[in-house]
Amino acid sequence: MSATPPADAPPSAPRAAPGPVPPDTTVLRATGLEVVHRTRSGPLHAVSGVDLALEERRTLALVGESGSGKSSIARALLRLPPPTSGTVTLDGTDLAALPARRLRALRPRMQMVFQDPLSSLNPRRTVRGLVAEPLDAHPGQNRGRDRATVVDEQLNAVGLDPELFGDRRPDQLSGGQAQRVAIARALAAGPRVLIADEAVSALDVSAQATVLNLLRGLTEERGLAGLFITHDLGVVRAVSDDIAVLQLGRICERGPTQAVLAAPAHPYTAALLAAVPEPGRPLGDTGLLPADPPSPLDPPSGCRFRTRCPLAHERCAAEAPAMRPVGPGRTVACHRPLLPVLPEAATGL
Ligand SMILES: Nc1ncnc2c1ncn2[C@@H]1O[C@H](COP(=O)(O)OP(=O)(O)OP(=O)(O)O)[C@@H](O)[C@H]1O
Ligand SMILES: [Mg+2]
Repeated sequence: MSATPPADAPPSAPRAAPGPVPPDTTVLRATGLEVVHRTRSGPLHAVSGVDLALEERRTLALVGESGSGKSSIARALLRLPPPTSGTVTLDGTDLAALPARRLRALRPRMQMVFQDPLSSLNPRRTVRGLVAEPLDAHPGQNRGRDRATVVDEQLNAVGLDPELFGDRRPDQLSGGQAQRVAIARALAAGPRVLIADEAVSALDVSAQATVLNLLRGLTEERGLAGLFITHDLGVVRAVSDDIAVLQLGRICERGPTQAVLAAPAHPYTAALLAAVPEPGRPLGDTGLLPADPPSPLDPPSGCRFRTRCPLAHERCAAEAPAMRPVGPGRTVACHRPLLPVLPEAATGL
C-alpha cells in the first residue's frame, strides 16, 4: 500500500525565476516541543518532539485521546509552565529569551478558553466586570478608548446583549452564555492567538454549535490564529482548517481538515474516525482501538500506536516512523500509511 520516493529520481528541473515571497502568516511557532512531568513513578514524557505552526485567520485542531498530551502542549505554548525543551516563538520572538517583564507584557496576546467556563469566572463579579479584567490588568489594551465601550463591543461580538447580560453574575448564565463571556474576556485582551481547550465539550449540542460558529467567525474577523483542542472529530470538522493528530505525545498525522477526515493516512486517525458514533451502528462496535492506550510512563518502542495497530509489523517496533508527505500540505508518520507516500515536490511542502 505504501510507496516510497524512488531513490533514482531524476534531478529536479531548473528552478523558475523567484516570484514574490509570500508574506509569512505564522503567528506562533513551536519547534521540538518536549514536556516531561515529574511523577512518583518517574519522568512522564507527555509531549515528544512536537512541531506546530499557528497561522493568522486559521484554526488548527489538535486531536487525540485522553492523556495524549493536548493540554500539556497548550500550557507549554503559554509557558504555564514552560516546556521542558523546545522553542516557542510569537510573531518571531522567542518567548524563552524574553525577560519576565516583556513576557508579562506579551501575555495578553495569547489567550486560552477552558472546558468549564464557570470555574474560570469569578462568581462575585458581573459580566461587565469579568470582561473588563484584562483591560484593568493591562491598561493600554483599549488604546485610549472608553473602557465601557470596549467591554460592550466584546459582548456584542459574542452575541450577548450588554443591556441584558452586562449586570448578571456567572450563576445567572447558561453554560453556553458563560462560555461566551469567557471568550469575550479573552477578546478584550486583544489576542493574536486564541487557544480553546475542550471549550465546547461541556455544552449541549445547540450551545456547542453557537460557540463553534462564534470561534470560527472571530478567528476570521480579528485575524487571530486559533488552536482548538478536542477529542471530538465532529467538532473538528465544524471549526478547523487544519488538523494535527496526537498519539501518546507525538503528532502522527497532519494536514487540511477536510482532506484528512475524508481519507485518513494514519491507522490511528482512521480508528478515531471509526469510533465516532454513527446512526445505525451499535456504539463501540468499531472493531478498532481495541485497548486503552499504553502508559506514557512506558511507551512502546518505535511507533507508539503499534501495540494497537492492525497493520503493525517488525519495523514498527524497531524504528519510530518519520513524517512523510502524502498529499498537498499533508504528512503522516507511519511505516504503512493508508495513502501512498509522495515525492516532496508534489505536495508543496
Ligand atoms: N501536572 C502533571 N503532573 C504529572 N503528570 C501529568 C500532569 N499533567 C498531565 N500529566 C500526564 O501527562 C499526560 C498528558 O496529559 P494531558 O493532560 O496533556 O492530556 P490531554 O490530551 O489533555 O487529556 P484529556 O483529553 O483527558 O484532557 C497524561 O498521562 C497525564 O496523566
Ligand atoms: Mg486536556
